[in-house]
Amino acid sequence: MADLLTLSRAARLVGITRGELQQRIRRDELDTFEGKVSVSDLLRAFPEARLEDDSSLERVNRIKSAATPEKEPKYELPSAEVLAERVNILSHELTAARAELAGYGDLMDALSERLALLEQAAGGEERGRLQELSGWLAAEVARRPREPRRNAALLAKATFLRMLAAQVEVIPSGHEFFVEGNVSILDAGLRSGLALKYGCTSGSCGSCKARVVTGRVLKVRDHEYLLSEREREMGYVLMCSYTAVTDVMIEADEAKGEEDISRQHIETVIRRVDRPREDLVVLYLRTPATQRLRFLPGQSATLELPSGTRGSLPLACCPCDSQNLEFHIHRGSSSALARGFFDHDLVTGGHVAVTGPEGDALEDRGAGSPMLFIAYERGFSALKGFIENAISADDAERFHLIWISTTPHGRYMDNLCRAWSDALENFAYAPLVVAAPLAGDEGRHALEEALGQVEDMESWEAYVAGPQVLAEVVTPLLQARGVTPERLQIRLDEEKDAGAGA
Ligand code: FES
Repeated sequence: MADLLTLSRAARLVGITRGELQQRIRRDELDTFEGKVSVSDLLRAFPEARLEDDSSLERVNRIKSAATPEKEPKYELPSAEVLAERVNILSHELTAARAELAGYGDLMDALSERLALLEQAAGGEERGRLQELSGWLAAEVARRPREPRRNAALLAKATFLRMLAAQVEVIPSGHEFFVEGNVSILDAGLRSGLALKYGCTSGSCGSCKARVVTGRVLKVRDHEYLLSEREREMGYVLMCSYTAVTDVMIEADEAKGEEDISRQHIETVIRRVDRPREDLVVLYLRTPATQRLRFLPGQSATLELPSGTRGSLPLACCPCDSQNLEFHIHRGSSSALARGFFDHDLVTGGHVAVTGPEGDALEDRGAGSPMLFIAYERGFSALKGFIENAISADDAERFHLIWISTTPHGRYMDNLCRAWSDALENFAYAPLVVAAPLAGDEGRHALEEALGQVEDMESWEAYVAGPQVLAEVVTPLLQARGVTPERLQIRLDEEKDAGAGA
């Protein structure tokens, strides 16, 4: 069937996330054929889809910028070379489609003539049945143009999107992402939350080698690493040096767990130091362009200051932007590293050595299931990168974030959470002030009430980060609502928060 669209493309066309589309499919509001949807079914499920404007594209860009808010949302246009290739390919497809359509037109004419001849030759009941068939055929042909006009508008928009961005399907995982502009396949995949294998990102190490199974790619940068003759014949390319011209399928390695990523040691530069509160430093580091930190969401890294003071902190950033690292340092922490940060004047341009990644990653075990995040005060830093990665991956049906603090001040990135909620229809943010101890009746009741806002919790994946007492209080509450232990992942602060105790 020519008018089948992948879920990623279909979601893009009607301006929703892939997770939202999957939700509609699960509710049987939309049929799929081998993981794809037809144009007609898509229009029936989304009759309000506006095909004449770019609002869906704008929304896609809003989603991207919500995941990595420091980047300006903008369309990246392909180069003239890529565009010319795409126009060439699409014009061939158009010519073939026209020829096929003309063939169907001829077939319809021939069919009508044959029916007319049969009618003349037949008599009695048979003639009546043939007349009925001819009448039905004529009525169907007359009725068709109305719906196809809308189908054609959607297909035209799909074609326009194909000019702007090519889709990549990765095997064996089945992950999909779009490549816009002249961005390399590697960068586009990382931005979309995939844990693709890479090293230098500049064409010299060969780690990002992948096999192009179908589709056309184009070299966008020269690379030092030489692929063997045999590898080239088999279709291998370096993902960091090639972009996708057409929709492509590639066979590529993706990290499945911590064991697939080796430990790295990187000298970074302080890009920015924010002090949103007197007792908090948000540190932004930049790695060299050719030595980014490869890690999985939820992992940590060890920082070492020039004085030799070192300590481990959660990576509070998305692996999709692994050149820009973020750490949250709280004065309340007893670690030598925290004291080092507050006792010394850290300035932009200073050096910090980063070794990592380390620790367990947080996993998306739900394959598109809705995600519930519960953070207590600074526990947010352990979840932030995972949330950003999940937004980039665009797989989850819904997100619900409960950020608990003893005062509104405790939610030190409140604006960021509100921005996620504003940009994404499927992201709910529920800030919660609990001044009383969590283990007391008042604290437990407040948490129970907040969880009561989440429906059908047995289908959710839950991620909790904060002090031990939060884990002790929230675990039975979640289990009572049907969240099984396999669907619950907990990150503990390295020490108790003063305000959270019983
Ligand atoms: S990441 Fe090193 S060659 Fe591509």
